[in-house]
Amino acid sequence: FAPKLLAGHRLLITAGPTFEAIDPVRGITNLSSGKMGFAIAAAAQAAGAAVTLVAGPVHLPTPRGVQRINVQSARQMLAAVQSQADQASIFIATAAVADWRPANASDQKIKKDGTGDVPALAFVENPDILASIAQSPRAQSGALYCVGFAAESHDLLQHATAKRVRKGVPLLVGNIGPATFGQDDNALLLVDAQGHRELPRASKAALGVQLVQELARRLPPAPRA
Ligand code: C5P
Repeated sequence: FAPKLLAGHRLLITAGPTFEAIDPVRGITNLSSGKMGFAIAAAAQAAGAAVTLVAGPVHLPTPRGVQRINVQSARQMLAAVQSQADQASIFIATAAVADWRPANASDQKIKKDGTGDVPALAFVENPDILASIAQSPRAQSGALYCVGFAAESHDLLQHATAKRVRKGVPLLVGNIGPATFGQDDNALLLVDAQGHRELPRASKAALGVQLVQELARRLPPAPRA
């Protein structure tokens, strides 16, 4: 009898884009289908982990057995993650979080005034959810294993290596090749302190399973219940 790979672990994972309101009917967002994060959530659940998925606005069904928390903005995503992080033993950030939000969202619809004048938008920076969780005492002590993702257009290995250090995470996963937004397949580059390893192009479902296997090899033993 072999125990499941992630038995005893609690995975917290973000997925999808965030949406940052300009007014009640407008906003800015990022391109992200959420498919890679949902596939990892499903694979981890099948591997025996208790999974909480914090999802931005996406059109995807909740994987079976996964607890889902829906959010819109980066600040809501951060609050949801913070409310769950103390229970987690793994945190994976796949969400495409908007780097900035409008500084002064209007609570009423901004009206066209007919003069041709356009509104000027000012932005403020959003919190970096991954970096803030990676700096927490539980992550620093190794009790919470943090994984970041990177979508780069060029020099992936170089950028992913630098991003791993900058975010302060043991494992950084890069999306290889052209943008995979909305696609059902992907290819991944795993970068950790030991080096790097490619997971060749495959369905996001298959890559989710492989990533869970890679995780299981790197994790400390599951916390005792
Ligand atoms: O810095 P960059 O956005 O390229 O970093 C990508 C990684 O950081 C992803 O894992 C993403 O989910 C996470 N991230 C985050 N909060 C942000 C920006 C990025 O959690 N505000």
